[in-house]
Amino acid sequence: SLVSSTEMLRKARKEGYCVGAFNVHTLEMLQAVVEAAEEAQAPLILQTTVGTVGHLGPEYIAAIARVAAGSVRVPIALHLDHCHDYALIERCIAAGYTSVMIDASMRPFEENVEQTKRVVELAHRAGVNVEAELGKVGGVEEELAVDEADAVLADPAECERFAALTGVDTLAPAIGTAHGMYKGKPKIAFSRLEEIASRVGVPLVLHGGSGIPEEQVKRAVSLGMAKMNVATELRIAFSGAIRQVFGENPDENDPRTYMKRAKQAVKAIAHAKMAMCGCAGKA
Ligand code: 13P
Ligand code: ZN
Ligand code: NA
Repeated sequence: SLVSSTEMLRKARKEGYCVGAFNVHTLEMLQAVVEAAEEAQAPLILQTTVGTVGHLGPEYIAAIARVAAGSVRVPIALHLDHCHDYALIERCIAAGYTSVMIDASMRPFEENVEQTKRVVELAHRAGVNVEAELGKVGGVEEELAVDEADAVLADPAECERFAALTGVDTLAPAIGTAHGMYKGKPKIAFSRLEEIASRVGVPLVLHGGSGIPEEQVKRAVSLGMAKMNVATELRIAFSGAIRQVFGENPDENDPRTYMKRAKQAVKAIAHAKMAMCGCAGKA
């Protein structure tokens, strides 16, 4: 069955590696990352955005994730990514999600604290992990768009107060990474991350995982990042493989043909990210 991500991530932070958290939008994408995790013997976090929950329905997603968890030996958690809708968080927990993100990072600090506390109370009754965000991660993640100029790095003292006030299980401090691909390399505030990690004991979450060079991922992990979110690179691989199939044969009409290629492409990215995170062999 699906497990909470709390223990998985505490172990990762303690032992200095990072768990890959992959945003999936279809059955084949979900199967691709599950197969990669099983082959790599890596713990896994399956994630869906609010948009995907709307697209497929939380009950369908949770049912498929449960089947996946029951068919492999590696631990799998199911997480709701970037959500600031309390009712939807409730519905996902009722459907069987084992981890949720309350993202009230666009609200003033005190309001972020209050909203996060409310979700912590709800989620902890069900043994569900809670992630929250401080600062503002730049870039575009579906309906969430933050201009580069509006991206704000997390403040270390605020992170410490936030964690103490909310009892949150995992914290995503904005440290200069962004959703989507980068023009060049991300400018990651490593010394700030180091200070946040020294003040906050809970596992930290690295958003904007697509496009971060391997050495930067490794450095962030060595400084306390215990979960890395990957979305855009999976979509690019999935869609690119399908485009290629139709480029070769515009009359292709068997979904299994192009979905198989798309699945293989997603699986290859998942393997690469798990290796980079150091979670391979940690299940
Ligand atoms: P990327 O799209 O850059 O992989 O970011 C993923 C993310 O942070 C999802 O929350
Ligand atoms: Zn994110
Ligand atoms: Na990114």
